[in-house]
Amino acid sequence: MGLRLKYNIVLILACTIGIGAATGMSYWIVQKSAIEEVHREIGLLRANATAVRSYTLNSIDPLLSDDSDILFLPESITSYAARTVFAIFRQQFPQYSYKEAALNPTNPADLPNALEEDLIKQFRADQSLDQLSAIVEEDGERILTVAFPITIEQEGCLRCHSNPEIAPPAMVDLYGSENGFGWELGETVGAQFISAPMALVDERSQETSLILSSALVIAFLLVLIVTNIMLSRIVLRPVARMSQVAEQVSLGDFSVPEYAKPGKDEISSLSLSFNRMRRSLESAMRMIDD
Ligand code: HEC
Repeated sequence: MGLRLKYNIVLILACTIGIGAATGMSYWIVQKSAIEEVHREIGLLRANATAVRSYTLNSIDPLLSDDSDILFLPESITSYAARTVFAIFRQQFPQYSYKEAALNPTNPADLPNALEEDLIKQFRADQSLDQLSAIVEEDGERILTVAFPITIEQEGCLRCHSNPEIAPPAMVDLYGSENGFGWELGETVGAQFISAPMALVDERSQETSLILSSALVIAFLLVLIVTNIMLSRIVLRPVARMSQVAEQVSLGDFSVPEYAKPGKDEISSLSLSFNRMRRSLESAMRMIDD
């Protein structure tokens, strides 16, 4: 195996491993920062839903609750308002979703699916958790869902969620007396679930790794070409010339011209030493002949 082939095999192997590792690492880093970005988006959506909730509780509910014995308006309910506002937002951004699910919900539409139920149970088991997230695949698309626990912190909530007998009668007429009751102060009854698509994240990670790996491949090809030219000029060609001269001299042909590689590197000094050795050999041979 020639020197050039050996050198190229080692270089290609090292560069392939290096490019592979760098591409994988960049994919991982970009994915990580992009997931953080989706988390930030979800945080903004949650802050907005919380604002809608508090506006409904503090500004709308007091205006509408006077008639609650005869007429119950779900519009005055925080979770109803948050869900309805989000539904309007979704008309422009259908990839995002918002849900307030409870294990025993007032509105059956708020029943959790298997994943949501699992997350609510985790919150109930560990009160110190302030959020949980999961990446699920739906119709071939990856979706990041972040859950935030809903804990009954105000006495006021129990007016409608503890006992159907003390709840507004019009509400019980509308929702029935079976669901959404029996909640207790300090209990984590459910969670807010906000989902955002990962498609942009995945696209960006793939794009960045593709750009990085292409740049590395181009840099590697440049290194390969330049080092091959240098190897040929500095080492391979002079060594081939010297070995050709040595071959002829070894066969007793001293007529070949001397070869001295210009420059001050090791190969140049080898060519000079070789020429000196050749001259000594030539004069030794001449002395023997005489
Ligand atoms: C005036 C009665 C009333 C009060 C007070 C009230 N809720 Fe509700 N709550 C409801 C009704 C009715 C629904 C169902 C709304 C709908 O149709 O989505 C509901 C829904 C919810 C839901 C969604 C799950 C479900 O049960 O469908 C959560 C979570 C919730 N309430 C938590 C709270 C918390 C926390 C408080 C106190 C800050 C509170 N509620 C105060 C009446 C009330």
